[in-house]
Parts: sequence; C-alpha cells; structure tokens
Amino acid sequence: MAKKPASGQEMWGGRFAAKPDEVMEAINASIDVDKRMAAEDIQGSRAHVRMLADSKIVSDTDRDAILEGLDQVEQEIAGGDFPFRKDLEDIHMNIEARLKEIIGEPAGRLHTARSRNDQVATDFRLWTRQALQTRADQTRGLMEALLEQADLHADTVMPGFTHLQTAQPVTFGHHLMAYVEMFSRDRSRFLDCQDRMNESPLGAAALAGTGFPIDRQKTAADLGFKAPMANSLDAVSARDFAVEAVSACSICAMHLSRLAEEIVIWASAQFHFVRLSDAWSTGSSIMPQKRNPDAAELVRAKTGRIYGALQALLTVLKGLPLAYSKDMQEDKELTFLAFDALDLCLASMTGMVSSWTVDKPAMRAAAAHGFSTATDLADYLVRELGLPFREAHHVTGATVKLAEDKGCDLAELSIDDLKSIEPRLTDAVYSVLTVEASVNSRQSYGGTSPVRVREQVSRWKELLS
Ligand code: ARG
Repeated sequence: MAKKPASGQEMWGGRFAAKPDEVMEAINASIDVDKRMAAEDIQGSRAHVRMLADSKIVSDTDRDAILEGLDQVEQEIAGGDFPFRKDLEDIHMNIEARLKEIIGEPAGRLHTARSRNDQVATDFRLWTRQALQTRADQTRGLMEALLEQADLHADTVMPGFTHLQTAQPVTFGHHLMAYVEMFSRDRSRFLDCQDRMNESPLGAAALAGTGFPIDRQKTAADLGFKAPMANSLDAVSARDFAVEAVSACSICAMHLSRLAEEIVIWASAQFHFVRLSDAWSTGSSIMPQKRNPDAAELVRAKTGRIYGALQALLTVLKGLPLAYSKDMQEDKELTFLAFDALDLCLASMTGMVSSWTVDKPAMRAAAAHGFSTATDLADYLVRELGLPFREAHHVTGATVKLAEDKGCDLAELSIDDLKSIEPRLTDAVYSVLTVEASVNSRQSYGGTSPVRVREQVSRWKELLS
C-alpha cells in the first residue's frame, strides 16, 4: 500500500512526499474567501452524486452515504463547528476531506467525472446568480423608496441645474424620478446578466469533458440552470459572467454615487434642501453644529472599490490561455468585494431616502433665485408677441441684466421696468415669471410638471406591483 501522503497533499498525495512551503500555502489557499460558497458547493455535490447514481456510475448505497455525510457537513458549517483548514486550500477540498472523515471510503467516489475546475465554476455561478437576484431586489426597494418621495414631492419646486448653475425650476419629484429610471435600468442589467449566465458548467470536468456516461442535462436542471454549457473548455475558462455582474454593480454604484453627491450638496447648510434623519447622520466630536452625511460620502467612496474590482478582474483574465489557470482563483474575492460594497450602498441609500426631511421653503426660495424663469419669459415673448426665439432671448437677457442691476428677481421687476425693455409687455407676463407657473407649463411628455410626474409615479408603481 502507498505511504500516507503529507498533510495538505492528501488530495493528490501519490506523487508528493514533502509538505508545501509555508508561503506556498499562503499564496495558494483560498479558503478564507471561498468558504462563502460552502452552501453552493454542497448543492453542486448533491446534484452531481444524484446524477452519478441515476447514471449507474456510483451505487445507490454510496450515493446515500455521500448525501448523509453532506448533510452533516452542512450542519457543521451552519453550527460554526466545521474545521476549516488552510492546508486543504479551498472549500472544495475542505468539504471533501471532511466528508471522508465522516463517511470513509465512499467519499472518494464523489469526485468521479468531476474536477475542481467545473466544480468551482459551478459554485461560483450559483453564488453569483443569487447575488444578482438579491441586488436586483434591493434596487427595486430603492426604487420604491424613491417613488414614495417622488409622490410626496410631485409639486415641490426646486432649482434644476446644468453645470450646477441654476437653469430652470423643476419639481423634486421629477428629479427623484430620474433616478428611478436609472435604477430600473440597473435592475434590468442584474436580471439580464443573471439570465445570460444561468448555464451549467458541471460535467465539463477538468477541461475536456469525461468518458463516464454522465447526464449534464440532469445536473443542470437539478441546479436550476437553463442548460448545460455547450463547450467544456468554455465552461471551465469563462468568467465573463463575473465581469458582467461586476460591471452591472459598477454602473449601479456610479448612479448611487451621483445621488450620494447630490445628498451631500443638499444636506449642506448653504443648500439646506434635505435633512438626513438622526439614524443616517453623524456628529462631529469638536463642532457641535455639524450633521455629517457620512453614509452618502461613503456610498460615493465605495464606488471606487467596486470599479477597482472590475478593473482587477478584467486584468486577471486578460492574458489567460484556455483552459483553467490558478489566476482565476482571484475572481471570487474581487466579485464578493464588489457585491458586498454594493449591498451596503444600496441599503444605505434606501435608508437615507426613506427617512430624510425635505425643506420645501428652502428649495422654493433657491428655485426662484438666479433668474430661473428667464426661459419662460423668452418663450412667452415668442408665444404672445410673435418674436423670433433669438430676439426673445436677447430681450430676456436685457431684462435679466436690469433685474441684476436692481438686485431683484424677474418677478419683482415693475411693469414699467419691463416695458422699458419691451413696450408691448403687459401685467399678463407675471403669470409666467413664478416658479410654479414655470414647472406647471412643462407638460411635454417626460417633462417636469406635477401632472407628468404623478403619471410616471403611478406607471412605476404599477410596473413594480
Ligand atoms: N480554489 C480554486 C479556484 O478558486 C479551485 C479550482 C482549482 N483547480 C485547480 N486545477 N487547481 O479557482
């Protein structure tokens, strides 16, 4: 009988006599990261062994022993008393080694017609499929929180900006609905990615398929995959599903970061548009007046690590020949990191949005500043006096200049002031100079008027119900 291999070499012990170097073990081990896929690994092994028995590759007795052993492994992991071992490298070998301790010889039959290469690809796809679902659900939760606020603030007037310069009045509801649209696309990106990646690598074995009469359709169906992947080399080599998933996370994080930036601005004393609830603010140890929007700032900042994970993942993969290379082991840490960060960001954003207080008077006052209704005046001159738009723009420019010189808003100019620039103007012009008139007039499809905003809120509530 062959000599028992050194610890850590027991899975391929035949050829190896000496233990790996300590640093080799450190660089090689992924257990600290991939133990998060324990449930998926057990799920994959159950499907595999059931198929092996159905295909008469292992006996029903061995199958039952393996399934029972896996139940115990599952319980040990859930109960926190599973002995995770670094010398066993990863979750796949940890579980198999423990299974062997529990059930003995039949454990060795589980790995028939399977390799860690298709095993890890299967586990990782199962994990990512679920993570995409969770993020899609969280994104929907955030959309619902935004919809509630948009409904409440369908006619709350705020300044709309371009270049962060006051442009035209808009409604706060309209502004929030812009994010509902963005997050809805993020959500559909998660779901599209989930659908595209939902194919089973299991049974590709190491890279070339297997000579055993396995049934890949069966394991694919058992694991909820649409179909087995059609090419065994692709099955063990492809990580574009992870790249796509982390890209979808990155785009969502980018949207979250833009909203976070707005919250930071809105929560400042100078703007004072929103006040974050106590639960979502922090104080300063030295300046008692401070209410810091730390969560918003961290949402903005964590976007960096999510983009970083995407860049790192693309870089890890770019030079790899087919099929498996150990480089690919780095894929999981990066993907987990991106999904974890996005988890916190989505939850924080939903918390902030659902509990903030909106300072409507401050928003309205800001909306009226900066001659925000100048475009309305120009449009009025076109509509009522038949001026060409270019000339109306010129007349309006002169009116803004006059208001600026007098230190007042457009609506505060007297009719004589206005007539001094365009003699045909009458009192009727004041009806377009208020911010409320301005937003109410913008009823074109997709426009900011409260009627259009309410329509969009109802449309989205229906779509999400
Ligand atoms: N821990 C490995 C990974 O995450 C599992 C696959 C190892 N395969 C191999 N042929 N060494 O990629």
